[in-house]
Amino acid sequence: MFTKQLLTLAGALSLVQAKTNPQQTYTPAEIAAARASVLPYSPVSNVRGLAFDRFVDIWIENTDFETASLDPNFAKLAKEGITLTNYFATTHPSEPNYCASASGDNFGMDNDDWHQMPANISTIADLFDTKRIAWGEYQEDMPFAGYQGYSYSDSDANQYMRKHNPLVLFDSVTNDNLRPRQIKNFTTFYEDLEHEKLPQYMFITPNMTDDAHDSNITVAGDWAGRFIPPLLKNEYFNKDTLLLVTFDETGNYTEPNRVFSFLLGGAIPEHLKGTTDDTFYTHYSVIASLSANWGLPSLGRWDCGANIFKQVAEKTGYVNWEIDYKNVYINQTYPGPVSDNIYSTYSPKWPIPATEGCCTAGHGILDIVKKTYHGLKPTHNYNSPVPYDAASGTNVGIRFSRTVHGRREEGITE
Ligand SMILES: *[C@@H]1O[C@H](CO)[C@@H](O)[C@H](O)[C@H]1NC(C)=O
Ligand SMILES: *[C@@H]1O[C@H](CO)[C@@H](O)[C@H](O)[C@H]1NC(C)=O
Ligand SMILES: *[C@@H]1O[C@H](CO)[C@@H](O)[C@H](O)[C@H]1NC(C)=O
Ligand SMILES: *[C@@H]1O[C@H](CO)[C@@H](O)[C@H](O)[C@H]1NC(C)=O
Ligand SMILES: *[C@@H]1O[C@H](CO)[C@@H](O)[C@H](O)[C@H]1NC(C)=O
Ligand SMILES: *[C@@H]1O[C@H](CO)[C@@H](O)[C@H](O)[C@H]1NC(C)=O
Repeated sequence: MFTKQLLTLAGALSLVQAKTNPQQTYTPAEIAAARASVLPYSPVSNVRGLAFDRFVDIWIENTDFETASLDPNFAKLAKEGITLTNYFATTHPSEPNYCASASGDNFGMDNDDWHQMPANISTIADLFDTKRIAWGEYQEDMPFAGYQGYSYSDSDANQYMRKHNPLVLFDSVTNDNLRPRQIKNFTTFYEDLEHEKLPQYMFITPNMTDDAHDSNITVAGDWAGRFIPPLLKNEYFNKDTLLLVTFDETGNYTEPNRVFSFLLGGAIPEHLKGTTDDTFYTHYSVIASLSANWGLPSLGRWDCGANIFKQVAEKTGYVNWEIDYKNVYINQTYPGPVSDNIYSTYSPKWPIPATEGCCTAGHGILDIVKKTYHGLKPTHNYNSPVPYDAASGTNVGIRFSRTVHGRREEGITE
């Protein structure tokens, strides 16, 4: 299928950009050719943030809060930072959570199928590009930068899976010459570290063994215990850096989807090391926190109303919502264009984001979102700190409140 053309750069880029499908596999020759010709792209930038200058998001898989908190490696690492005791995933299974982390919605995804989000869905890459904040992903065992296959392994075990790679799911990322090359593997991570070419935002996905998916929490803890401590000792990596270690979702679908999460790194003030923070956060809080930290707009989706990390909220004066945890599961997907389950209210329409308002981060909504969706009514109430869907009854009946300048505010998802 990919012949001599591969030897040219244009050919190599067309391989990166090729629209692939779940059945597509690459031959060893195609992999070797792409490795030789597609260069990873590692832009750097130095845009100061309010609470941190670099953010590193590390995701482990499918583990309940308590199980993870009892693992000796994770427990030891968490003690060096701030444990977030009310951080929630957005649904089950994996892929919708990774999708949510990049775009502020899971679009009704209730499965791990092949999905490619249409070009009019914006992501955090668009937010970062408004200020030329360098971003990247490091996916362990991905065979070359920008690889778009469904999976890759050179052993009998699973290694790289596309469903755990947030930004590759989006046409707005893959339909570009440079962006796919910012989605790299761990070989390139260590090269970028050595050459001081790390981006200011990075998402890190260990392979299917290291992330506990095909193993258990002990194996993932061993990996984290080997991977993270040397980075914390590296001045270049760690200076003013905030790391989040979290889980895509809990293991048990009938329990609240509260995932063990902790913040680490040089951006954490000494007096906060070893403390806990019980603020309600979700994967959407990360996007909102990045926006607030660097003065970026919102995607106008569930990041719009999400609570932001306390350290950033304190700098901007934003008051986070407190949640009444009764009935908070956040373990279900509402119907959308990429749902498998046929609900009675099944909606094949792509949700319309908010195009007005300043959102949690306080910097309005991304221009391209405003332009694309101008005049259309938002599908959901994106000002809510809790994602929900009134039509299908998903995550409804959750109360939240806060006090702003002595005035009490209350809300409910309904
Ligand atoms: C990682 O990506 C680079 C650049 O695309 C490639 O040369 C290298 O072979 C990859 N490493 C592994 C282990 O696949
Ligand atoms: C996953 O990565 C580790 C290194 O972090 C490696 O030792 C292991 O072989 C990889 N797993 C598989 C199944 O290849
Ligand atoms: C976790 O997996 C490792 C490697 O397969 C195994 O040695 C260990 O017994 C497992 N631990 C638990 C608690 O299942
Ligand atoms: C999941 O949670 C339910 C409700 O607490 C419990 O009955 C069940 O045993 C749990 N399942 C597993 C696999 O832990
Ligand atoms: C979510 O949790 C509730 C309460 O345990 C349970 O009734 C429901 O079936 C769960 N939803 C899913 C999709 O597992
Ligand atoms: C966004 O793209 C989807 C899929 O192509 C399309 O159905 C939808 O109408 C587009 N939305 C807008 C507002 O253009």
